[in-house]
Amino acid sequence: MHPVSLLLKEHQLIDRMIQLMKKELGKLRGQKKIDLSFLDTTIDFIGVYTDQYHHEKEEIFLKYFEFKKMSPDNRALMQEIEKEHDLCRKVVDRLRGLREQQNNGNPLALKDIIQNIEILVDFYPEHISNEEKKLFRLSGDYLQREEEVQLLNKFMEHDQEMLHKKYAVVVDEAEKKSKKI
Ligand SMILES: [Fe+2]
Ligand SMILES: [Fe+2]
Repeated sequence: MHPVSLLLKEHQLIDRMIQLMKKELGKLRGQKKIDLSFLDTTIDFIGVYTDQYHHEKEEIFLKYFEFKKMSPDNRALMQEIEKEHDLCRKVVDRLRGLREQQNNGNPLALKDIIQNIEILVDFYPEHISNEEKKLFRLSGDYLQREEEVQLLNKFMEHDQEMLHKKYAVVVDEAEKKSKKI
């Protein structure tokens, strides 16, 4: 498999989630209460799948171009992509914080939750489009076949480590809770 094919496949799943978030936003605007299970799914999907699983691999991809001679336009595109990943991380951190507030019954949280989901829904489709139409094409222009093979191996290592780290945290937290009982 080509490393870019892997990223494209992930985009399809992210796009399905973004479409769902868009649909939920429509319902949410007229309500006073949020569907907490939907919010938890969004935080988990964007925080784990999109940020840790997908963006981290794209950042490995971006590193391959660090020392290549590239046009100012391509450099600007790469910086833009990285900035948008940072924005996504900030938004999901804010959503996690707001989820806590919602737990404590803060009435302001719903408006802020809607605003943050809107940020993601607004910029993400264009983010995906820029990557597919511009960023991923750089692979064919600048990477040697051996670099692509190496990149795919790095992606595999990343995914394996990421899953292990995620569940190490789950077990740590379960152990802490179990000690309290
Ligand atoms: Fe991205
Ligand atoms: Fe992407």
